[in-house]
Amino acid sequence: MELITLQTKNTTYQMGINDLGFLLHLYYGPRAEGDMSRLLDARDRGFSGNPYEMGLDRTFSTDVVPLEYPCYGNGDYRSPAFNVRSSRGVFGADLRFKKWEMKSGKYSIPGLPAVFCDEEEAYTAEILLEDEALRLEVLLRYGVLPGIDVITRSVVVRNRGKETVYIDKVYSACLDFISGNYGLLHFCGRHTMERNLERVPVIHGKQQFGSRRGTSSHQHNPFFILADEETTEDYGSCYGMAFLYSGNFSFEAEKDQYHQTRIQIGMLDEMLDAPLEPGEEFFSPEAAMAYTSEGLTALSHIYHDLIRNHVCRGKYKNASRPVLVNNWEATYMDFDGEKLIEIARRAAELGLDMFVLDDGWFGKRDRDISGLGDWTVNEKKLGGPLSKLADAVNGLGMKFGLWIEPEMVNEDSDLYREHPDWAYVIPGRKPNRCRNQLVLDFSRPEVVDYIFESITRVIDSANVEYIKMDMNRSICDVFTAVEGYQNYGKIMHEYVLGVYDFLERLNQRYPELLIEGCSGGGGRFDMGMLYYTPQIWCSDNTDAIERIRIQHGTSFCYPPCTMGAHVSAVPNHQTGRITDIKTRGVVAMAGSFGYELDLNLLTEEEKAEVRGQIRDYKKYEHLILSGDYYRLHTPGKDTEAAAWAFVSKDQKEALLSIVSLDTHGNEPANYIRLRGLRPDLVYHCGEGGELYSGAVLMHTGYPVPIVPGEYKAWQIHLTAQSAGSLEVPL
Ligand code: GLA
Repeated sequence: MELITLQTKNTTYQMGINDLGFLLHLYYGPRAEGDMSRLLDARDRGFSGNPYEMGLDRTFSTDVVPLEYPCYGNGDYRSPAFNVRSSRGVFGADLRFKKWEMKSGKYSIPGLPAVFCDEEEAYTAEILLEDEALRLEVLLRYGVLPGIDVITRSVVVRNRGKETVYIDKVYSACLDFISGNYGLLHFCGRHTMERNLERVPVIHGKQQFGSRRGTSSHQHNPFFILADEETTEDYGSCYGMAFLYSGNFSFEAEKDQYHQTRIQIGMLDEMLDAPLEPGEEFFSPEAAMAYTSEGLTALSHIYHDLIRNHVCRGKYKNASRPVLVNNWEATYMDFDGEKLIEIARRAAELGLDMFVLDDGWFGKRDRDISGLGDWTVNEKKLGGPLSKLADAVNGLGMKFGLWIEPEMVNEDSDLYREHPDWAYVIPGRKPNRCRNQLVLDFSRPEVVDYIFESITRVIDSANVEYIKMDMNRSICDVFTAVEGYQNYGKIMHEYVLGVYDFLERLNQRYPELLIEGCSGGGGRFDMGMLYYTPQIWCSDNTDAIERIRIQHGTSFCYPPCTMGAHVSAVPNHQTGRITDIKTRGVVAMAGSFGYELDLNLLTEEEKAEVRGQIRDYKKYEHLILSGDYYRLHTPGKDTEAAAWAFVSKDQKEALLSIVSLDTHGNEPANYIRLRGLRPDLVYHCGEGGELYSGAVLMHTGYPVPIVPGEYKAWQIHLTAQSAGSLEVPL
C-alpha cells in the first residue's frame, strides 16, 4: 500500500492508498515509524458491501475500514464527511485517489481565515481525490506545523464536469480510529454562561453538536477534544479539533458497529446545498487538529501557542493591550458627552489607557428599538462631533475606542426605511425579531460596501484607536432580494464571507486599530474571528464568580489574552452578587483587562485598589500575554477555591491566582497544587512571602490563606531564587 506520512515533532499522521484507490486513514497519535496498514483487519462482514472491483473477494468494505475523507454513496454507511447531488439526480459520490504532492510552506484560503506561518515553519500535503462519473475533484489540503504539533485541514471541491452539482456536505476534517474507548469534551452554554466544559462518553450512534444560528454561538463552541477515558489535565492521550469559522458548524462523533470511532468537524450540512457550476471551485473553512499524549493542559498549550502566533494578526498580536474602561455597564445608552468625559477623566486619573464608547452614540439610539444601521454620530447627544470627544479623551492622555454592530438594522432606522430589502425578511412572512433588530444581508457585497463606507466615515472623522465589533442576535428568515439569486444553498456561508470581507478590509485600512470581537459577549468566540480580532469580549456576564467558570471553559482552546475581561460594579448587573473589587480585579486579570463601571462612584479605598490593579496588571502582563496557562481547579468539583496560574516559558516566574469559594466554620486547610514549575528551583512567593521549592508547591501545594468571608482573592507572584538547595525551609 502506498503510504502518506505526515510527521511533527511528537506526532505521526499516516494515510494509505489501497489498490482500489481508496484513501485510508491509518494512524494519528504519538510519533511512530512503520507501515500502519498492517493493523487493519480484513474479513467478510455481513451487510457491509464490497467495491465491485473486489470480484468475489469480500474482505474489504468501505463500511468497516478507517477512511480519510468518507463520502456518502460508496458503501460506507457511517456518517460521511462529504455528499453531493448532481442536477441529473445522482446522489452521493465515489471518491478515489488520483495523485498527491508535498509542498513547502502553508496554504492559505481565499476569503477565509487560516493558520499562517513562515515558509520554513510548515509544509503542505495536497491529496487529490476524484469521482470519475461526476468529474468532480476533491482536493484535501494538510498544513503541517511540525514544531508545534498542529495539522490543519481544508478541502477544495472542483467541478470538472458539464453539469451543475450541489454540495450537500463538505466537512473540513474527519478522523477514524480503529481502536479505543473515548470521551468527548465539548463546551456548551447560553448567553451569559458560555463554554461550560461537559465530558461525555462516545456512544454507539452519532452525537452531534453545533450551531444553526448563523454564528458559532453561545450554545456550542467550534472546538472539541476526544480523550481517553482516563486522560486528565496532566496525563493521557487527547486530540483537539478546532474550526476556524464563525458561522453554522457541526461536530460529529460516532461509534460504529465494530466499536470504531469517527469524529469530524465542518460547516453545518443541514441547510447546505451549495451549487457548483462547471469550472467552479468551493473552498471549505479550515480545521486545526492537534494530538498530545500529555494531557489536556498540554493540548491547551498547543492551541494557545497556535492562536497567539499563527492565527491572531496585526499590531496587537503579541503587544501589550491598553487597559480600557467601557461605559456600557456604567451608563448603558443613557449618557451625554459630559457624563462620558467624567468617566474618562476619572479613568485617566486612575491610570487607565483607553476610554471606549459603547452602544448609543449614533442615529436615534436611546433604546435598543431603533437606530441600528444609521452610522452617523448623534452630535446632539454627544454635545459635538465625535472628534471633540475623542480629542478630549486624547487630551487626558488616553486612547479612544468605539462600539459598532455593522451586521444589524432596526426597522426604526433611516437605512431600513430606505432599503427594507437589505434585511433578511421572507416575503409574505413576519420576521422573527431578536433584541428588536433584523439582520442585514451580508451575503450582498453592496450591503457590506455601504456599511463599510458609513462606518469608516465615522472612524476617519476622529482618532479612533479601538473598535468593539458586536453582533447581537441569532439569524433566521434568510432570504435575499436579489433578482435571479441562485445561491440559497450556501447563503449562510456567503453571509460569513461578507463578515470576513468587512473585517479584512477594516484590518487592511487601519493596521494600527485594535479590534475586539463580540456577539452578546462570547457568542462568536472562535478561531475564525481571532484571525481578524485578537481579543473577543468573553461574556456579557461580568460577575467574577461566574466568569471563573466561563474563562476556565474558554481556556481549553483559547489563550487568556484573547478573552476580554472587565471589573464591573456590585451588586453585579447579571447576578446581583457582591464581591470585593480585589476579587473582580484578580478574575479580570486572567484576560484582556479592563473596567466597565462608573469609576466616579468608587470609594477612595476602591480607587486605590484600582490604581494598584493597573500597576499589577502592567507588571504581570508579559505572563498573562505569553506565559503558559494552568487550570488548577475544576469548577463544580473543587468547591473550596478556584485557582489558575501563568508560568513563564522559562519556568522562572509565575503568577498564581486564587479565589475562595465556599466558606465554612472551623475551616479545613486547603492547598493549591501548582503545575508547570521546575521542581529543582526555589520560588519566592510574593513580596516578603515564603520560600518554597517548586517540588513542594507542585506536590503538596500552596496553602490558601484562611480569611473569613466569601470570595476572597489572592494573586501571588512567584519568582525563582536559585537552583535547588537543601537548605531551603520547605
Ligand atoms: C452586547 C455586548 C455588550 C454591549 C451591548 C450594547 O450585549 O455584549 O457588551 O456592547 O451589546 O448594546
